[in-house]
Amino acid sequence: MELKATELKSVNLAAEAEALEELWSPRVVARVNDSFVKVAKVQGDFVWHAHEDEDEMFLVLKGRLRIELEEGAVELSAGDAFVVPKGIRHNPVADEECWIALFEPVATTHTGGETNERTKSIQDQLRGA
Ligand code: NI
Repeated sequence: MELKATELKSVNLAAEAEALEELWSPRVVARVNDSFVKVAKVQGDFVWHAHEDEDEMFLVLKGRLRIELEEGAVELSAGDAFVVPKGIRHNPVADEECWIALFEPVATTHTGGETNERTKSIQDQLRGA
């Protein structure tokens, strides 16, 4: 995704997340150096996975998110951020609808080493970007 100077504009993360129609389907809304900023609307369980080579940051925009880790769970409310270190298995869970932003390298696949029905390609995540 290349931004030309004439395209410089702000992005409202919550509004972008709210506009999503499909759960667990991240959308790229910005690129910062070699990382994408994505938003997603989530509810229920995702899938246990790990990103072998990349840290992944979650920022909760609305609602609550629980990130299950093998050592326990981290509870996040709106405004809270958490970085899952590379190689750590995790499973995001939202008991009720939750809007999140994700910060991860452009090479990161959101289901990590797992490929399943939740997996969305980067091309799909770039839709409309
Ligand atoms: Ni992940």
